[in-house]
Amino acid sequence: MSADLLSSRDLVLAAWRARTVVPGFNIPYLPMMEPVVRALRDTGSFGFIMVARLEWEKFQAGSLAAIRKEYGRVGDPRHTRLHLDHVPAIDEDQKVVDFEGVIREAIALGYESVMVDGSRLPLEGNMAASKAIADMAHAAGLPAEAELGAVMGHEAGPMPSYEELFASGRGFTDPEEAARFVKATGIDWLSVAIGNVHGAISAARNLKKVEARLHIERLAAISRAAGIPLVLHGGTGIARDCILDAIRNGIAKINIATAIRQPYEAAAGRSVAEAQQAVYDTMIGILRSELELEGLAATLGVKPQGVTP
Ligand code: 13P
Repeated sequence: MSADLLSSRDLVLAAWRARTVVPGFNIPYLPMMEPVVRALRDTGSFGFIMVARLEWEKFQAGSLAAIRKEYGRVGDPRHTRLHLDHVPAIDEDQKVVDFEGVIREAIALGYESVMVDGSRLPLEGNMAASKAIADMAHAAGLPAEAELGAVMGHEAGPMPSYEELFASGRGFTDPEEAARFVKATGIDWLSVAIGNVHGAISAARNLKKVEARLHIERLAAISRAAGIPLVLHGGTGIARDCILDAIRNGIAKINIATAIRQPYEAAAGRSVAEAQQAVYDTMIGILRSELELEGLAATLGVKPQGVTP
């Protein structure tokens, strides 16, 4: 990366300070990447291209290296950065994962930020895992994201009803724990659970996602306690007003997967080109109308092509 390009850390900090958000888009199928990048470029926006471990294990992202290679072909540093999403310490099938090995490989390949997900560990274990990854990422000059609380949805088997989940606050991030967690781990971005749920990746992966709400007062308290940019996972299907409110209250990165995966899968049986078009059209809707992130690259201070300081 050339010296005049802002780092992933700087970009998210810029979004946080400007009370806006950097969207991240998951790529479970390699051909999705090109239309995602093109939509970001065509709207003058900015976003993370992301892959999570489960997307090369359970979908068709291939591997860390395959995603990196495709990013080398279609990525655009004026509009994108490459982020490693969820590498769990314990995965959705309760398997223990060599998360340090996976993240080390991603850093060596050139990923520009990383996430460790220790949310299925007890708090102390999550802190130890998150600190180890923050230290590893920082040694390479990169920011690290971790999760505190439990953003449900990836597990196999039945989920409790959404209303029950929201009313009980089960798995929600605790503000005091967040303060302790950030101090002890040195992580740069914190993924929080405040009513958001992941799109299902098992039996219900083709169903329409439940419309989630967010507990904004809880978010504001976490934000005050943590004092760092917060991340909203499960970005598909959250009521728009809730998202805008969340951005005003500390969310500086939002992760979106299901909203672009389902149109791709629905059209992929006809042709890859049609599926790519479906992803592009959906992306334009998200960037222009839903999140209103047209022109985000300039807001974040990314220089347009050809402009020298
Ligand atoms: P959605 O599938 O709900 O968009 O969630 C994506 C996500 O949080 C990936 O980390």
